[in-house]
Amino acid sequence: MDSRVIAIDGPSGAGKSSVSKRVGKQLGFLHVDSGALYRIMTWQCLENGIDTSDPAAVAAFAQGVEVECRPEDGAIAYYVKGETPGDRIRTPEINAHASHVATVKEVRERITAILRGMTQYGDLVVEGRDITTAVFPDSPARFYLTASAEARAARRQKEEVEKGIANQSAEAVKASLLARDKIDSTRKYAPLRKADGVLEVDSTSLTLDQVVDAVLAALPADWKTA
Ligand code: DC
Repeated sequence: MDSRVIAIDGPSGAGKSSVSKRVGKQLGFLHVDSGALYRIMTWQCLENGIDTSDPAAVAAFAQGVEVECRPEDGAIAYYVKGETPGDRIRTPEINAHASHVATVKEVRERITAILRGMTQYGDLVVEGRDITTAVFPDSPARFYLTASAEARAARRQKEEVEKGIANQSAEAVKASLLARDKIDSTRKYAPLRKADGVLEVDSTSLTLDQVVDAVLAALPADWKTA
């Protein structure tokens, strides 16, 4: 049987990761963080002195970056030269460069092919910016998760402090998040947008459980009992 894909898009901090992980765990679908692949490409560019504002340089370099994908503990884990990137791809520096790298057509094509190839591992819940519109547009389970900019910034700031990644003010986190949203939603190739036919869930005043329940309730009936 073909594998089933739950596709979840939305801006930074809308809660995509928490929701996708929970939905995946509940249904036994593998969680796929597509943003991590864009972050890995960005990290590798920076490590190798590639100017992320030069699309031709990024495109040429990205062709040679090998990312190994392995199903592990309910998710697809990524390895670069045998190492997991971990929180090295979650820094404010990577945040600032990733949107630029994600504008590059060749990078998007490469990552789209990697993501589509993951169906070989089974059923998936994939989160990102173009999953419902470009990577898996034919999925019968597509969602657009949003929240107010303030709520999104507050979540991201808390996460950065808790993980010891950074200690920025809420204002600084909000400014960086809005700058990324703008680049992500106005770029030429596969911009972030709410596709026709997706279910929009605004998580601003919902608990995680409520958002997870809204997603589960909207799935095709036989996906919930499989
Ligand atoms: O979700 P995130 O913050 O980890 O994403 C990192 C960057 O990658 C962000 O600028 C959006 C971009 N991205 C994308 O263009 N398409 C995706 N499917 C996922 C992320």
